[in-house]
Amino acid sequence: MTRPRLAFVGAGWIGSARMRSAVQAGAADAAVVADPDEEGAARAAAEVGCAVVVPSLEAALQQPLDGVVLATPSALHARQALTAMGHGVPVFCQKPLGRTRAECARVVRAARDNDLLLGVDLSYRHIDAFRAAVDTVRAGAIGRVYATDLVFHNAYGPDKPWFTDPAQSGGGCVIDLGTHLVDIALWALQTTTQSVTAQLFVKGEPLTDLARSVEDYAVAQLTMSDGASVRLACSWFLDAGTDAVVDATFHGTDGGVSARNCNGSFYDFECNLYRGRSWQRLVGPGDDWGGRALVAWADSLSVGAGYDPRIERILDVAGTLDLIYGRAS
Ligand SMILES: NC(=O)c1ccc[n+]([C@@H]2O[C@H](COP(=O)([O-])OP(=O)(O)OC[C@H]3O[C@@H](n4cnc5c(N)ncnc54)[C@H](O)[C@@H]3O)[C@@H](O)[C@H]2O)c1
Repeated sequence: MTRPRLAFVGAGWIGSARMRSAVQAGAADAAVVADPDEEGAARAAAEVGCAVVVPSLEAALQQPLDGVVLATPSALHARQALTAMGHGVPVFCQKPLGRTRAECARVVRAARDNDLLLGVDLSYRHIDAFRAAVDTVRAGAIGRVYATDLVFHNAYGPDKPWFTDPAQSGGGCVIDLGTHLVDIALWALQTTTQSVTAQLFVKGEPLTDLARSVEDYAVAQLTMSDGASVRLACSWFLDAGTDAVVDATFHGTDGGVSARNCNGSFYDFECNLYRGRSWQRLVGPGDDWGGRALVAWADSLSVGAGYDPRIERILDVAGTLDLIYGRAS
């Protein structure tokens, strides 16, 4: 296979952006664009020179394909991934892969049983600043990490109604933003989550019924299996005084390191190393990271890769989110 022929299912904001990135990088061909929004799909397809536009995943699967890229409302991901893999087609899915650990596990099992490459767009793993922070922690350069602070306030959005409908989103800011932070923390710390206490709010009131509304503010205290502490705070529409506040800071016995956004940006990040009251810049902003996870998956596909067991780490992330939501994992 040279360039994999991909179906892009869901051609909204992130779907069309990722499709442009993959095609412009020469990593894949857009064989089909599938979206019930005919106009949006046609516009996105035209941008990458794709001639086939269909209204659904099922119609896309009638075409000759090497893979499917899902960027639909979150609650559809697991079901659509299972449908695609049921046709023997590898899947790259936007995060979250599923609404719960159990749902994610069904998808991972289908990928493993059918030896299909499954990828998830954990895009923050591909940002140089987060990589540098994780490498610093894993190299032991700040000693034993006993405390981690994770923050993701998206004051700007989200701006589509489906995000606040639990039936379509599967949850609020925790599943939307917390997924990235928990993934980064588990990757850096190489441990698992033992227990969680959390508070979820919607419009300033405690969230009492997950089936009726979604959280727009969450704070959680995680105790890890090695006894370390991880604090998580995330939100939508917070009066943060800027578009976004994103920060993963690791405190160790010999120093600290943080990856964080610059000047409220969703795109620019830096990594700084802390020793006492001094600090040193490890990575500055200006990194073009958006399409990297998809390009890496497409590159693996092009050399014939099948199931990659590293995807199973997504289950620890989903299990941690279950605990934050108060569900037994
Ligand atoms: N990895 C990341 O950093 C990142 C960033 C942004 C969004 N996301 C995820 O991407 C997903 C999409 O988010 P978005 O902001 O692009 O939303 P969006 O609303 O802009 O796009 C969703 C698209 O899916 C289409 N759609 C709905 N039902 C469909 C179906 N049954 N089949 C095919 N298409 C269908 C809609 O018409 C729309 O065009 C979400 O799950 C979100 O969490 C991930």
